[in-house]
Amino acid sequence: MLSIILMGPPGAGKGTNAKRIASEYKIPHISTGDMFREAIKNKTPLGELASSYINQGLLVPDEVTIGLVKERLSKADCDKGFLLDGFPRNIAQAEALSKIGEEIKKPINYVINLVVDETILIDRISGRRVCKTCGAPYHIKTMKPSKEGICDLCGGELYQRKDDNEETLKSRLHEYHLQTEPLIEYYKSLNVLRDVNGSQDLDVLFNEIKEILKGE
Ligand code: AP5
Ligand code: MG
Repeated sequence: MLSIILMGPPGAGKGTNAKRIASEYKIPHISTGDMFREAIKNKTPLGELASSYINQGLLVPDEVTIGLVKERLSKADCDKGFLLDGFPRNIAQAEALSKIGEEIKKPINYVINLVVDETILIDRISGRRVCKTCGAPYHIKTMKPSKEGICDLCGGELYQRKDDNEETLKSRLHEYHLQTEPLIEYYKSLNVLRDVNGSQDLDVLFNEIKEILKGE
């Protein structure tokens, strides 16, 4: 069982690295942000509720998010492991996750924290483009697709996320410091947290992560 939480502030590279890890270890990549964006795209009631929070850079209420993750982790494709990206995002979600883990017998065994300087985060978010179809992230300067505006992986159209603007980013960073950062101490005290430098070259970073997961 390889169950990983990938943590970090907005723009730290959770989505980018999660895709590599999930594909290398053949485990599902579970991103609550992607799940909400999918619901928004499909205009479901969940999407309608989530969009009002996401567009303001605020967290979607815990009862909604926790229920969504519990349902997802209960599926059979998570039996051999999973990678959580963007969940948990506060202490209440972390405590709920630990309870869910006990209930469905899928405990977390690694928490990887991507550490990135705030000035870099702002640059990354403002230049990010995302595939409309598969969610793969690109960057207009540092991670260009081979063909402008088109996803290398699936040929989908690239777009800029609605919450990737200066004002919403301020509020996302504020929420991160207020609600999510305390999880670093929480997981440190449980002896499962591993910090990695999220501003280095992606291949170097991936080797570091593989070193942490060695033996899995
Ligand atoms: P979510 O979708 O999780 O957004 P986020 O946490 O703000 O993080 P991002 O997706 O913006 O960044 P990332 O770390 O994935 O970086 P990426 O790999 O794309 O959440 C969105 C919203 O949904 C929240 O604000 C909230 O409202 C709601 N939500 C989600 N989960 C929730 C929860 N649990 N509870 C309540 N609400 C929730 O990389 C960024 C850019 O940098 C890319 O362009 C990439 O190409 C580039 N890049 C990455 N790494 C490198 C590198 N090493 N070198 C060069 N470029 C790099
Ligand atoms: Mg992401």
